[in-house]
Amino acid sequence: MAAQAQDVAQAGTVRFTLDGQDIEARGDETIWQAARRHGVEIPHLCYKPDQEGLRADGNCRVCMCEIEGERLLQPSCWRKPVNGMQVRTRSDRVRHAQKMVLELLQADMPDEAYVADSRLEHWVRTLEVGTPRFSPRVQPAADLSHPAIAVNLAACIQCTLCVRACREVQGNDVIGFALRGGEAHIEFDMDDPMGASTCVGCGECVAACPTGALSNAGVPPDQQHAWQGQETEVAT
Ligand code: SF4
Ligand code: FES
Repeated sequence: MAAQAQDVAQAGTVRFTLDGQDIEARGDETIWQAARRHGVEIPHLCYKPDQEGLRADGNCRVCMCEIEGERLLQPSCWRKPVNGMQVRTRSDRVRHAQKMVLELLQADMPDEAYVADSRLEHWVRTLEVGTPRFSPRVQPAADLSHPAIAVNLAACIQCTLCVRACREVQGNDVIGFALRGGEAHIEFDMDDPMGASTCVGCGECVAACPTGALSNAGVPPDQQHAWQGQETEVAT
């Protein structure tokens, strides 16, 4: 009976190579999840595995990895391994791509920080991304109309974690992602000020936001941290 159970467990696993190390992915695990279980933390921003219910979306592209035989880099938070796959998460090509994403996002960040140590800051620091070489976008105005949540979309990286937190975790569906390209932005209900929207102030979006674009109103930046140190450090 025990041997039977073991056979079932082995049938649900995948063996692949991660940065030269032979590892095993269980069940439905992505490359990112299998890597973390083996002590490798791949950069991530639009994915927050430590907040219950938030699925991966594969949109920020900071978790890119290289797969032997494939021309394009792949998002490790989304891509699942198959037997024999050879994955690299720290090669020069991968690090260049990850750092470029971080530099582009960092270029848009306002001088003012809304939380003391954002998850974006954490990865910029960890991967030693230098001063951005790109011009910032035109920054949207702050929306301080809500008594509990401050909205500073100048720091928004459009990761949509807040949309998933509001819609899929809390079932409130107040936050949406409107328009496309350079006009794309986070909105509340029909682009209402947050204080006039149907937001109930649950705070799920604030907990999810990796940059402080959504933060606790009236709380000084040094008393709120988007980077909560729950995740293991990345090996560089
Ligand atoms: S407000 Fe925060 S959580 Fe929402 S899309 Fe922007 S950066 Fe992501
Ligand atoms: S963390 Fe994988 S695409 Fe954003």
